Formats: sequence, structure tokens, C-alpha cells
Amino acid sequence: MLAWYPLARIVLFGMTDRLGANPIEFITRSTGLWTLVFLCITLAVTPLRRLTGVTALARFRRMLGLFTFFYATLHFTTYLWFDKWFDVAAILKDIGKRPFITVGFAAFVLLIALAVTSPRAMVRKLGRRWQALHRAIYAIGGLAILHFWWMKAGKHDLILPRLYGAIMVALLGWRLLVWLRERTLKSH
Ligand code: HEM
Repeated sequence: MLAWYPLARIVLFGMTDRLGANPIEFITRSTGLWTLVFLCITLAVTPLRRLTGVTALARFRRMLGLFTFFYATLHFTTYLWFDKWFDVAAILKDIGKRPFITVGFAAFVLLIALAVTSPRAMVRKLGRRWQALHRAIYAIGGLAILHFWWMKAGKHDLILPRLYGAIMVALLGWRLLVWLRERTLKSH
């Protein structure tokens, strides 16, 4: 239920005329930030499960991942439809000026691949290949931070990108440590 809050907030603000002077910018930024928040929460499930021993947490991982994709789709659609009205020339011009958009797009393409292969039947069908494919989530994490960092670097405001960058390094670094430890244990 809580995962609907960011969307409900945008709808409520829209209905009560509180989206500010530039509503499209408000929606693009809000959905972009929530995509990143959901990405971090999704990546936090496994470390939390391992550290607390609460195995039931694993049930939420798929749903949280799909919410990440949902907000990324809203973010992308707002840009493509309401900001650029599907005008390819305008988009190409914008990408030339703001290359961070291409980085966001790369993350989105990878997210599509993960969302398409998320149904249980797909997990079964792909077997080991599913795991290999879903490692793309690490690349998505890196691209998402780069996208955010690059955008904010142009505005000389790196407080939030640094914060999310640190969270991402912790979430991915933990996995690297676990992997290194298991590899060492196996070789002994
Ligand atoms: C995993 C995918 C993505 C994530 C996590 C993400 C995240 C973000 C974040 C955190 C922001 C900054 C919000 C703020 O200022 O508070 C942002 C801005 C932006 N993103 Fe994304 N994004 C993603 C994909 C995309 C895609 C596919 C596009 C378009 C093709 C895109 C276009 C933009 C644009 C244009 C802005 C700047 C908005 C402005 O200047 O007002 N993003 N994104």
C-alpha cells in the first residue's frame, strides 16, 4: 500500500494545484527520485534478510522491483510524452545538451529486461540464466547514480547524489564482500 504513496501524492498535488510553476518538471523529478528510492529498497531486501534472518522478507523483493520499474516508466513517460510530445528532433537536441538522459535510458532498458523476466514462469524457464540476467540490477544501480550525479553536477548541487551514491556503494559493496568471503571459504 505504502508503495502507492508517491503516485497518490502527485495526483493529490495535481488536483489541488500544488505542482508548482512547472508541473512537468515536478513530476519528472519526483518520479525520478522515487525510482531511485525503490531501487535502493529493492537492493536492501537481501542484505536485510541475511543480517536479520527474517526469510519472509524475500517475498517482497519481486514486488518492490516491479514498483521500481513502475516509477521508472512514469518518469520516462512524463519526459517522452508531456515534456517532449514524442518529438524525436527535440529529444536528440536535449540529449546532446544533457547526456545524463542517455545514461538514464540505458538503466531503463535494463529494467525492462528484468521486469519482462520477473514472472515466476520465466524464472523457472530461464533457470541459471535468470540469475545471470538479474545481475544487471548492479549495472542499473551504477547507471542510476551516474544519471543523478551528472544531472546535479550541472547545477553544482551534489548533496543528494552523494547520499544515494553512498547508499548504493554500501548495498553493492556488501554483496561483493559476501561473494569474496564465500569464494575464500570454497577454496579452503
Ligand atoms: C532507472 C532509471 C532512472 C532513474 C533511477 C532515474 C532517476 C532520476 C533522478 C533521481 C532524477 C533527479 C530528480 C531530482 O532532481 O530530484 C532524474 C532526473 C531526470 N531524469 Fe531520470 N531516471 C531514470 C531514467 C530516466 C530515463 C529513461 C529518462 C528519459 C529518457 C530520464 C530523464 C530524466 C530527466 C530529463 C531528468 C531531469 C529533470 C529536470 O531537469 O527537471 N530518466 N532521474
